[in-house]
Amino acid sequence: MTRPILVTGGTGTLGRAVVAELLDRHRQPRVLSRRPRNSADPTSAQWVTGDLVSGEFVADAVADVDSIIHCATDYRHMDNDVRGTRRLIDTALLGGSPHLVYPSIVGVDRIPLKMYRFKVGIEELVQRGGLPWSVQRLTQFHDLVLTIVRNAGRFPLMPLPSGLQFQPIDTPDAARRLVDLAIAAPSGRAPDAGGPLVQTVEDLAQQWSAAAGKKRRIVGVPVPGKVMRAYRQGWNLTPDNEVGTVTFEEFLARVIRRGG
Ligand SMILES: NC(=O)c1ccc[n+]([C@@H]2O[C@H](COP(=O)([O-])OP(=O)(O)OC[C@H]3O[C@@H](n4cnc5c(N)ncnc54)[C@H](OP(=O)(O)O)[C@@H]3O)[C@@H](O)[C@H]2O)c1
Repeated sequence: MTRPILVTGGTGTLGRAVVAELLDRHRQPRVLSRRPRNSADPTSAQWVTGDLVSGEFVADAVADVDSIIHCATDYRHMDNDVRGTRRLIDTALLGGSPHLVYPSIVGVDRIPLKMYRFKVGIEELVQRGGLPWSVQRLTQFHDLVLTIVRNAGRFPLMPLPSGLQFQPIDTPDAARRLVDLAIAAPSGRAPDAGGPLVQTVEDLAQQWSAAAGKKRRIVGVPVPGKVMRAYRQGWNLTPDNEVGTVTFEEFLARVIRRGG
């Protein structure tokens, strides 16, 4: 008999896909979320309402699990991610020392974003924390690229940083990878994983405007600075590790069909 797999942040963009993937594979997900289950949440997942930062019910969440896929994050308060991850590890060490799988971001150690410095610190916590571990760096999700182009596309003129490329991945593809890791022996730092295509942000914006039926003039704008230089050098890409199967265009067709 296999034991449950804990999905922290199982209500989030990636976490929901991980929960769905586990259910598809007849594995028992246990969600840790700060909110109670609602009618849109899968009834077949176990549910713990708790908080990684306050520590509330974290011991219940980690009790008797085989592995943990740690998708919880608070982009606006990354110091909370550090505290929450430390709490998760310390609590799990008191239990059965499950395998901890952490999704990180391709290029996190090369792109000088403040948020990425926190992520590198969390990767180190995972690596040195004492639990068996796997770290999977992923490229940007289609959902994030959609947010970027949709925000830029609020007006007829659509300014976007020139030279910026993405290799976005569909969250179900990313989830498949994380579940593969979680049910196998710990891998340490796994090879990076990205979507099926590397494309310029202008091309991605063009695909969005066509799919959404918006007439937009896309304008590439040179953006100075260290961060954009790192992106222009392609540190957010992993062209040799195209593991995703769904392109941004296919993702858009799915989202727009659902009215998104
Ligand atoms: N977005 C991307 O393009 C991308 C690319 C590569 C890797 N990643 C990584 O993938 C992971 C998941 O990202 P995401 O975009 O799916 O995030 P998300 O949609 O913002 O979901 C994060 C979830 O974390 C939960 N959470 C936040 N604080 C918590 C706390 N104190 N205790 C318990 N749960 C908490 C929230 O659940 P409740 O509100 O229900 O508590 C939320 O649903 C992150 O580590 C991110 O860095 C993201």
